[in-house]
Amino acid sequence: MATVETNTVTLTINGREITVPKGFSVVEAAAEAGLEIPVFCYEPRLGAGIGACRMCLCEIEGIPKLQTACTTPAADGMVVDSHSARAREGQDAVLEFLLLNHPLDCPVCDKGGECPLQDLTFRYGPGVTRMTLPKRTHDKPIPVSPLITLDRERCILCWRCTRFSEEVSGDMQLVAEHRGANSIITTFEGRPYTNEFSGNVTELCPVGALTSSPYRFLARPWEIQNIPTVCGACAIGCNTSATIREDRVTRVLSRNHPEVDEGWLCDKGRYAFGHLRSPERVTRNLIRGGRGLEAVSTTDVLDHVADRLRATVERFGPGSVAVLASGEQTNEEAHAWARLLDEALGGGVGVCGPEGGSWWSDLEPYAASISDLAGAGTIVVAGDADLGHRAPVLELWIRKAVGNGAGVFTVGPGATRLDTLRGATHVSAAPGTAHTALLEAAGGDGAPADALRGENAVLIWSGPMRSEVASVLAHVAHTSGCRVLRTPRAANEIGIAAAGLGTASPEAALELAESGTIKALVLLGADPVGDWHAGERWRNALARCFFALQVTGFQNDSSGWVTTIVPESQILEKDGTLVNLEGRVQRLRAAAKAPAGVSDGYAWAAELGSRLGVELPHDPPAAFADLAERRPAFAGLSWSGIGERAPLGERAPVGDAPAAPQVAPAAVPQTVVVGYRELMSGAAVDHTEALHFQRRRGIEIAYADAEALGVATGDRIQVTHDGHAVTGPALVQRGLRPGVVRLAARVPHVGPGAVAAVPAEAEDA
Ligand code: SF4
Ligand code: SF4
Ligand code: FES
Repeated sequence: MATVETNTVTLTINGREITVPKGFSVVEAAAEAGLEIPVFCYEPRLGAGIGACRMCLCEIEGIPKLQTACTTPAADGMVVDSHSARAREGQDAVLEFLLLNHPLDCPVCDKGGECPLQDLTFRYGPGVTRMTLPKRTHDKPIPVSPLITLDRERCILCWRCTRFSEEVSGDMQLVAEHRGANSIITTFEGRPYTNEFSGNVTELCPVGALTSSPYRFLARPWEIQNIPTVCGACAIGCNTSATIREDRVTRVLSRNHPEVDEGWLCDKGRYAFGHLRSPERVTRNLIRGGRGLEAVSTTDVLDHVADRLRATVERFGPGSVAVLASGEQTNEEAHAWARLLDEALGGGVGVCGPEGGSWWSDLEPYAASISDLAGAGTIVVAGDADLGHRAPVLELWIRKAVGNGAGVFTVGPGATRLDTLRGATHVSAAPGTAHTALLEAAGGDGAPADALRGENAVLIWSGPMRSEVASVLAHVAHTSGCRVLRTPRAANEIGIAAAGLGTASPEAALELAESGTIKALVLLGADPVGDWHAGERWRNALARCFFALQVTGFQNDSSGWVTTIVPESQILEKDGTLVNLEGRVQRLRAAAKAPAGVSDGYAWAAELGSRLGVELPHDPPAAFADLAERRPAFAGLSWSGIGERAPLGERAPVGDAPAAPQVAPAAVPQTVVVGYRELMSGAAVDHTEALHFQRRRGIEIAYADAEALGVATGDRIQVTHDGHAVTGPALVQRGLRPGVVRLAARVPHVGPGAVAAVPAEAEDA
């Protein structure tokens, strides 16, 4: 008789018959059916169970000894009991054993009240201790970095943290030392734990062994509220919970969105909320008068701004006002300003972000979703610097995809972290020419072309966007069939452009300002003097303007050249929506109260509207409804429909083939300097001191160039580029293309330069 092979197995757990795919463990099968088997070391995001803690002991019919459910594959006909007297006795014994040396200092432990060890002890453990001997002790607490504190006495050696470090972030910085009862968790060679995903281990640790230093002793679980929101520090839009105590953010936790972040956050998203209470925040409305900047009331500043904007248009005509947004504003704020420009100021110019975020919209029909990476056959990442600086959590998705068999191609000058992934293929391209290399690859034969044409191929552009790059990527996607995962620099560039505020490029706006067409500049969180290309030209343009307003959280390089400064509410202090890099509209919630004197960004714009004769909707939900009515990208969406797990909307259909891009061959100078914007930069990080240790300080130099200069890693070198000189320690990179020098910079740039060793005498002097 023929047997029928199925891909499922049917077993019984605690009396319930369950059918699950082959390959599931008993723990996974139970979870699938909503049954709980207690665990510590098992965590689905870290891969298969390892049987380290023994908490999941179960009785299985036909097997004489108790088994760990996390390492036992579910099999047809298996009968499992996790609640039998023997299983309960085993679980109780495991807890007693785990608590033998545990300090039981729950009243002063930051995990207390939210601790799986506490919870499982209450439910499965012994009620009393039989321990009469002194417990083993360790030095404590140990700061493994300015962000994380380690208490070894509380550690139950579940290996979740080391597995995260090995298998998820791949940094290998957390390790276990010694054996048996002497095993301890430590950092590699005792160095600080510097990986930019480090904070995830504080959530993974099932006890209070690894805790967040900024949260130490700040709150107890019964005093806090966790507000579901999203991160606004980059365009991924990881889902988060902001922990609030007395109106202040005290902690940011992940809120697993399986299609966006899988529950991981980078340290910028987790810790940069520190800037919210910085004493340097702008909290007063300031108008420049005869004696410098003078504080005025909110009503006075609104009257003043309305008067100046009206006067600009009366004097210089329609189109004489430009709004430069940093890219971090909500869709509702952008919509309000777009309507003000259109309806009260005779048109005008809106710019979204220093790279002109609207170019990303050209790629809309080819847009990939983040979770496309999970099923990708090949992933091609093109750009001049690490993808992790623009969209950190994508790196974790790529690592996981590689673990599942995806191939990775990197195109650029090399020495990025993705180049070191198992099986990664690197295609060397001079800085600034990765898009040209892609075009050539897509049009030819060979491995890169196959990668782009491969099944479920995803192309990620991890660098500044400009018109030429957008047209190349659209062409490559159209001809090869790959999807493109976009990486705008700021959190909401795609949303702001879709809300109608990002139609002009920064360069076009600058030219209009220089030619005198634009006479009023409104800087929404933007610092064009310090953060944008041609900062000096922007400074002159601001100085020559009839009126310049800055709406900002912190004073910056542009502040000295504006006439009016208004304090801006920050992400985590405002309600609204953001569009992430996939095009997913997500809800941002006002978790914390802004400091006294700081108005809500949307409410302030609406007030300004009423002074300029534009009746804007009274609050963000009404503004979103208005936006959905007026802008096609938001059509059919509703505020309440977004919910806490925002779904991805319909994709725009792929249209006709885009015109073949015209790309002029670039002359490559002997030494090319690449300045990239590092992850740990921007006002939020500048004003969160605990994050500063994660900044990259080295200047990357290719091995051959370092040899020629006679320098090694750590030696001082000087890079000159575009009239500026930067000195710092060399970081010799074997994988970096010869002739390339790469360093973190406020304004990303690529151009000719020179590098020289700094003699030790010059250093001493
Ligand atoms: S520190 Fe925490 S996560 Fe790491 S092994 Fe110990 S208990 Fe597990
Ligand atoms: S990856 Fe981006 S969105 Fe996610 S936590 Fe980090 S900065 Fe925020
Ligand atoms: S959860 Fe199964 S042994 Fe730890």
